Amino acid sequence: MTKTINIDWGKLGFTYTKTDFRYISKWKDGNWDDGKLVEDNNLSISEGSTALHYGQQCFEGLKAYATKDGKIQLFRPDQNSKRLNNSCRRLLMPEFPEERFIDACIQVVKANKAFVPPYGSGATLYLRPFVIGVGDNLGVKPAAEYIFCVFCSPVGPYFKGGMAPVNFMISDYDRAAPYGTGAAKVGGNYAGSLLPHEVAVKKGFADCIYLDPATHTKIEEVGAANFFGITKDDKFITPKSPSILPSITKYSLMHVAKEYLGLQVEEGDVFVDKLDMFKEAGACGTAAVITPIGGIEYKENLHVFHSETEVGPITKKLYDTLCGIQFGDVHAPEGWIVEVK
Ligand code: PLP
Ligand code: COI
Repeated sequence: MTKTINIDWGKLGFTYTKTDFRYISKWKDGNWDDGKLVEDNNLSISEGSTALHYGQQCFEGLKAYATKDGKIQLFRPDQNSKRLNNSCRRLLMPEFPEERFIDACIQVVKANKAFVPPYGSGATLYLRPFVIGVGDNLGVKPAAEYIFCVFCSPVGPYFKGGMAPVNFMISDYDRAAPYGTGAAKVGGNYAGSLLPHEVAVKKGFADCIYLDPATHTKIEEVGAANFFGITKDDKFITPKSPSILPSITKYSLMHVAKEYLGLQVEEGDVFVDKLDMFKEAGACGTAAVITPIGGIEYKENLHVFHSETEVGPITKKLYDTLCGIQFGDVHAPEGWIVEVK
């Protein structure tokens, strides 16, 4: 019999729900073990683990989607695997093979099928793969042992309101150094973002926007999401920088904008004092999906794009097409969808 659980899917925020199984594989002496699903959601690790002291850890985020005809599918898990391995290389951690990464995600979704929110519920199953350096250690050096784990949790919208516009403020803090770890998905980047995030929220904003750390003139990231803007002549523009996390959603949207909506697409500088070139703007990411940006506060001025209350027409089309692909209602580009079966 299929297990049923009592969750009000429509009320879920982006919060942790303990599910039944997670996948764990351990690395020692140059090899990952066979890996397995386990029930315990606690990890027991050495107090000397490099992940605890020196931030030797990285993570990913991807989602499983229930389709109208009852299938479950993953969106571009190969891209998450590649990015995880880039992060591993940056922190001198062993890479986890791509086919095993995808298999682990599939195993976790299958084992937690009851937690996959139904089609149309507004929620999805978020998967969190990660790698941590573990084992007895004291000096600043790479760990001798590692754990790869994937857990999952059903989630709702990351920003309150989902597809309703929210406002952001430009932060005085930097998220990453010019040639630091900004392009890797490592925990240290997020620890450093907690304070700027709290400052923004206390001032009534959804989150903060980071400028480029070298000149503080160009937009880089919108909290834990990438930025895009639609110019008055219908170009999709998104920042390019070595300290931005390369968002899989962003690269997918660039393809959608070009191939499905017929827009011109450009990665380039987005100067914070030239925001009036955009008629619409948004934040994009796995958790954020597409969150329309109502306005951005910079030097005490709130620059409003399309509207503080209504989503712009191009942002809405991008959202509908991307979600249509993810939920199986719109034909996906080759290789973007992996069915969980
Ligand atoms: N930027 C940051 C800092 C993030 O944490 C994320 C989330 O993963 C993104 C951008 C969006 O990336 P993706 O679309 O691959 O989820
Ligand atoms: C994601 O979008 O997957 C993220 O990782 C953002 C945040 C929850 C860290």
